[in-house]
Amino acid sequence: MSSSVSVPKASAWRVALMNASPDRADELAKRIAQQLPILQNRLSRTYGEGNQVEELTEQLLAAAVDIARKRSQALWDLDLSRQSQPHWHQKGAVGYTAYVDHFAGNLRGVVDRIDYLKSLGVTYLHLLPFFKAAEGPNDGGFAVANFEVVEPRLGTQADLQLLTQALRAAGISLCSDFVLNHVAHDHEWAVEARNGNPEFQNFFCMAHSQAEVDGWEKNLPQIFPDTAPGNFTYQPSLKAWVWTTFYPYQWDLNYANPKVFFEVVSAMMRVANMGVEAFRLDSTGFLWKREGTNCQNQPEVHWLLQAMRALMEIACPGVLLKAEAIMPTHQLPPYFGLGETPGPECHLAYHSSMMAASWVALAEENVSILQAVMQNTPAVPQGSSWLTYVRCHDDIGWNVLRPEAQALGDTHYQRLLNASHFFAGIAPGSYAQGASFQTTDLQTAHGTNGMASALVGMYSASTPADSQLALDRLLLLQSLSYFTGGLPLLYMGDELGMGNTSAEVLAARQGPDGRELHRPNWQEALAQLRKQEGSVQHRIFSKLQAFAQLRKSLTAFHGDVPVNAIESKHPTVLALQRGAELKGFFNFSRLPVDQDVGNGQTLAIKPYGFVWLQSSSSATLRTLID
Ligand code: GLC
Repeated sequence: MSSSVSVPKASAWRVALMNASPDRADELAKRIAQQLPILQNRLSRTYGEGNQVEELTEQLLAAAVDIARKRSQALWDLDLSRQSQPHWHQKGAVGYTAYVDHFAGNLRGVVDRIDYLKSLGVTYLHLLPFFKAAEGPNDGGFAVANFEVVEPRLGTQADLQLLTQALRAAGISLCSDFVLNHVAHDHEWAVEARNGNPEFQNFFCMAHSQAEVDGWEKNLPQIFPDTAPGNFTYQPSLKAWVWTTFYPYQWDLNYANPKVFFEVVSAMMRVANMGVEAFRLDSTGFLWKREGTNCQNQPEVHWLLQAMRALMEIACPGVLLKAEAIMPTHQLPPYFGLGETPGPECHLAYHSSMMAASWVALAEENVSILQAVMQNTPAVPQGSSWLTYVRCHDDIGWNVLRPEAQALGDTHYQRLLNASHFFAGIAPGSYAQGASFQTTDLQTAHGTNGMASALVGMYSASTPADSQLALDRLLLLQSLSYFTGGLPLLYMGDELGMGNTSAEVLAARQGPDGRELHRPNWQEALAQLRKQEGSVQHRIFSKLQAFAQLRKSLTAFHGDVPVNAIESKHPTVLALQRGAELKGFFNFSRLPVDQDVGNGQTLAIKPYGFVWLQSSSSATLRTLID
């Protein structure tokens, strides 16, 4: 079968290089000379020295060269131009994320929405998983049955190609998920394993006794404690417990087996040749299991990601890697290669702490946790950017904030619990219409579901004044994301104030996953309203357009310009400095404040208001937007 690994011949990559055209061969030889030391180093750290690692390195290099050799001329040229401008993705970047079916029906439908995306200033489109998913429940496509075949419901390989070309022509990079941690239980590797093939059984992590399961479980957190408790699933045909961090139908891959790394990276590089320009590396934190630990963010995860980056730099250097590691703030910088083994790793990483903390700030009308998160956020290496966001397709997970909350005092857990109750709409005085995720217990904070506009009170408002406050809260959160991010990411519908998924649509969806609450279908009527001056949709949309415009026009918004928290003197105001030139003030209170903005100036900021300022040559501060 296609996925079995043949024993490589010595210097397989040199043979592959000989098959390349002379200009590509020269360029590839240069790239290999640069990347080989790091590749060898990270692989031998992970898998030990010796023949096995040498063979693996050979094989991976041969695969990378083969991919580069087969890259279309357009993509090869794109790689070269991006190599000569390594900051290409950091200038005025704006992202958008959506499910293909909810957004546009299928991949062809997405082509028809390109003008819409362009009008929002979008340069980066993350479409949630669109490769073949498991039959039946599949975690919104995150149970992948085939890494390279387009999900038939969403289109064909030809549609994907058409879409990537159309997006590229519009200056938008397509980002695809690449689910590294697991495959669907009906992926051919899992089927082979279940059928008794030992080679493929070794592709998965398994425990062979209840005692072994219990030993691991002692240290493991649970991602879906309510709907998928535990981290293992018994497989009668294997007489073993398969490691399933997420749902029982998502089988964790065994990266201690180098063949798994080879197969996964090879598939990823082949997908890059379909025109995908960025990979969202799903659940990156979980790839390496180590006894006695919580099996998250282990050093090997970073070594493998750095080896992956080195291979991408050879095969397709124009392609970006984005870490989806929903982890506490201090665990995030290593995904940029700032950990114990420094080196180029991911270009982008989700700042989930900043996202969650901005919601806590809204509930508490106090920015202390958010400020602590900003203080714990180091400058990123050149060529990297934080991905900032207000909402995405997942719940808002509160536990990433435990370290910051804890450092601020004894009531820390209560603060997260309060935020969780607040957004579930069960705290007195709450305007939010969300729901708790994976917990029914009022003493546990896990996550919160709901569309941003439902969480800020847009749909509970009964007076024009309440509606105005809700709108201001939404814009406040977006303004923070657009001000701080290297890549601010919009979640489909938030640009139109779209509310929660309706009860009828929810009832028709498969499976009991609470996150469906914030996965509504596209509402064309709302999209049309954006053209009507004075409508809520117009007010949100035009503000987002203005943010995008400013981000394009000022170099201080480039992805690697540092953002630091500065003193605001108000517990409700977050004050930020971006580079030397920009300041931002964000008021999380229902009351107005008089804010000292420096340079002897004071500005009145309205309830839930914000202001972005730029220093001018006369040393006064100019308001860019508020
Ligand atoms: C990521 C995805 C989430 C999914 C999980 C398992 O966290 O964002 O939606 O459930 O990975 O693949």
